[in-house]
Amino acid sequence: MSRILVVHGSPRGDRSTSRRLAEGFLSAWQARHPEGQITRREVGRVLVPPVNEAFVAAAFYPEPDARPLSMQADLALSDQLVGELFEHDLLLISTPMYNFSVPSGLKAWVDQIVRLGLTFDHTLDNGVAQYTPLLQGKKALIVTSRGGFGFGPGGALEALNHADPWLRTALGFVGINDVSVVAAEGEESAERTFAVSVAEAEQRLLDLARVF
Ligand SMILES: Cc1cc2nc3c(=O)[nH]c(=O)nc-3n(C[C@H](O)[C@H](O)[C@H](O)COP(=O)(O)O)c2cc1C
Repeated sequence: MSRILVVHGSPRGDRSTSRRLAEGFLSAWQARHPEGQITRREVGRVLVPPVNEAFVAAAFYPEPDARPLSMQADLALSDQLVGELFEHDLLLISTPMYNFSVPSGLKAWVDQIVRLGLTFDHTLDNGVAQYTPLLQGKKALIVTSRGGFGFGPGGALEALNHADPWLRTALGFVGINDVSVVAAEGEESAERTFAVSVAEAEQRLLDLARVF
């Protein structure tokens, strides 16, 4: 594993727990892989445009090889973001849980990289849509922080978690199925309770930095 694409989703900078945890993982990983390449794509503090009508028209144009120049321009950022995905081996996404899902910047990024003909294909089988993922051999690590407790597997609030499970679904759709999730929970609980959860997440990330 030599190239990591980091997608930071929190609108917060230094105060962001998910960002800090992800950067901790990267420091540990870089120490073991001095030659390793890390590319950061900011989507929490820098606006990634939501898809609009021009994007949809261009992305689903029936003859992709004959797209007018104006449509190519409408897809330029998306092409760049997709290119970044292809160029890296591990995708590291850091994100808070926002209203049971992810911040809008990260959602916008996902909408930009799920691209017909580039990251997935669509065919009809007896009139029924079939989808084929086009990314291969990549892994993902999702580092997330939540204000509440119990959103993880088996937790009391698991069914309300549309953040990392949704990211898993979207990544699987484009072919990234090897996905690990590390979560810190309880920022809105007592300081000590949150600190324990963060420490556990830090340890888990140090362990993962040894195997990625
Ligand atoms: C707009 C907003 C929505 C939030 N929604 C949730 C939520 O649905 N569930 C939850 O557990 N915490 C929620 N939180 C709390 C954050 O998930 C928590 O503070 C997290 O640690 C922030 O991550 P960060 O420090 O990386 O930005 C929300 C916070 C904000 C600002």
